[in-house]
Amino acid sequence: MSRTRYYVTTPIYYVNDKPHIGHAYTTVLADVMARYHRLFGVPTFFLTGTDEHGQKVQQAAQKAGVDPQTHVDRTVVRFQHLWQQLGITNDAFIRTTDAGHKRVVQEILQDLYDRDEIYRAEYDGWYCVTCERFYMEKDLLNGTCPEAGCGRKVEPIRETNYFFRMSRYQEWLVDYIQTHPSFIQPDFRRNETLGFLRKPLQDLCISRPKSRLNWGVELPFDSQFVCYVWFDALVNYISAIGYRSDPALFERWWPASHHLIGKDILTTHTVYWPTMLKAMRLPMPETVFAHGWWLSGQDKMSKSLGNVVNPFDYIERFGVDAFRYFLTAEMSLGQDASFTEVAFMRRYQADLANDLGNLLSRVVKLIGSHCGGRVPSPGTMGEDEVRIRDVTLAAAKDMVDAVERMRVDQGVTGLTNAIREANRYLERRQPWVLARDGRQAELETVLYAAAECLRIVSGMLFPVMPTKMGELRAVLGVGTEAPSFDRLREWGGLVPGTPVSAAPILFPRQESKPTPVPAATPVEVEGVMSIEYTDFQKVELRTAKIVQAERVEGADKLLRLQVEIGGEARQIVAGIAKFYAPETLIGRTIVVVANLKPAKIRGVESNGMLLAASKDDVLRLVTVDGEMVSGATVK
Ligand code: MSP
Repeated sequence: MSRTRYYVTTPIYYVNDKPHIGHAYTTVLADVMARYHRLFGVPTFFLTGTDEHGQKVQQAAQKAGVDPQTHVDRTVVRFQHLWQQLGITNDAFIRTTDAGHKRVVQEILQDLYDRDEIYRAEYDGWYCVTCERFYMEKDLLNGTCPEAGCGRKVEPIRETNYFFRMSRYQEWLVDYIQTHPSFIQPDFRRNETLGFLRKPLQDLCISRPKSRLNWGVELPFDSQFVCYVWFDALVNYISAIGYRSDPALFERWWPASHHLIGKDILTTHTVYWPTMLKAMRLPMPETVFAHGWWLSGQDKMSKSLGNVVNPFDYIERFGVDAFRYFLTAEMSLGQDASFTEVAFMRRYQADLANDLGNLLSRVVKLIGSHCGGRVPSPGTMGEDEVRIRDVTLAAAKDMVDAVERMRVDQGVTGLTNAIREANRYLERRQPWVLARDGRQAELETVLYAAAECLRIVSGMLFPVMPTKMGELRAVLGVGTEAPSFDRLREWGGLVPGTPVSAAPILFPRQESKPTPVPAATPVEVEGVMSIEYTDFQKVELRTAKIVQAERVEGADKLLRLQVEIGGEARQIVAGIAKFYAPETLIGRTIVVVANLKPAKIRGVESNGMLLAASKDDVLRLVTVDGEMVSGATVK
């Protein structure tokens, strides 16, 4: 890790909203990033908070019959409560109604006004109450609010206001973005901002007359106005770390390493914010990273559609750590992702209950019954042990790279794959057979290797699932506290003889209670024939275990496989020799078409067909996700 310090922020959330999955996601992601940096020994500051001014808050308070401050004091706890439940380790929680923050906003406004960065003028335009944004006539989309996903009616507005001379920074900003590719990430978001900057940039209206809105920070040079909510809100990133109040603290943390945001607030963060900072003569944040949106199935989540995912429901059913795991692993960072109960259950059962939970309970049970309940002493490592060691250490190393590249999802996938490998390793080495045959030295070597894999992977997954990984590590006798990273980079950290306690069920199996999903529109792919379900039913797909594999003489593309399909032995000939060495296939569970008429391929009988994915020069066998007996139906 090349950083010497790490300052990560989330957007500050509108205090009016009920916390939903979108808020939970950015905050969990920031927490995971912060925890990884702390694990890697990088001094870290993690900031989140709430955006408490503006028209919507004023209106909601009026509706509730209370003053706005009382209203925000009541609503802010919903966020604070959720963060507490989710194990969020923010170092500060900023509220834009904090006296200190308001003072900093006023000082900035005064300074910019004194230096003619802010001026007074008459404004003629349109206003969207929901987005709290002004638009020029030409910005409207068919006469409605042009903000992505809004499209609401706008109101005409003519009034005197104060403006920030944003337009004077347009050229500088374009140049800055082009010469600092890591400033806006992912790359396609950078292009989006550059696209936006192809049109002339307007000056930014930063005031609201009190006659219309008085819930905001008063302009220090004109008490008839309050500050525009976005100008006030963006300042949180510096006011919270001591700008104009604690120079040493500010010096320590600014510029931010990562401003994590959702894609809908890209313009405010990559146009307004950098130009504001430039006018303030402050350095730019290193990276503004815009993640995609969580969709409900394929649809946008919206209150009106009634499909907004409530994080509390999932936390209650599956636990905090499984929820954190799903959010982290499921969204390819930068892209939109679909939140469905089916996807959640799949990951929960496959990755957590089956792969991770099973490996732990198998290893601990075998250590209990054959090694006196203590970490066994490993003997010489064979080829299999070397492989599981290399796979595990590579996954741990890749996780570090993944954090640097903001692809924690990929890092997590690598670690779960290592667990899967360890399960396969046990299948191959069959410690239960070694125990039966009294091959104690080999048995201890195998169990040590599997337990070591668990120690490293659980340490590397600790930032994602701190409670469960703590419990797992306590079983192995390596403590519940955050692990030391140096120990996770090296094989052999478990000390033979250390007592291993009984394994708790980390991820109890869950019954699926599928929520009704609206009928999906069938996707028509051009040039692909649609078939009825009954047609598909004619194909009998089953899992098969490869027990033997060899090349077919005289046919350099073919392998002859002996497979077991639920007690039945079969021979299948497959054109995969270019992609797989025969010995690497033994023990794998693949998927085959079991009811295909037997055929002769190059004179060799083939009784079934295996499934594989192929594109261009790559071919990969279709396997099952986790452990499964042979002969199981695939559908
Ligand atoms: N208050 C402003 C941010 C000011 S930051 C100086 C704001 N607040 S918000 O509460 O409306 O949104 C906060 C974040 O939640 C945004 O980054 C937004 O993208 C994110 N999400 C809202 N719905 C979402 C999903 N369905 N999925 C993922 N994130 C989404 O904007």
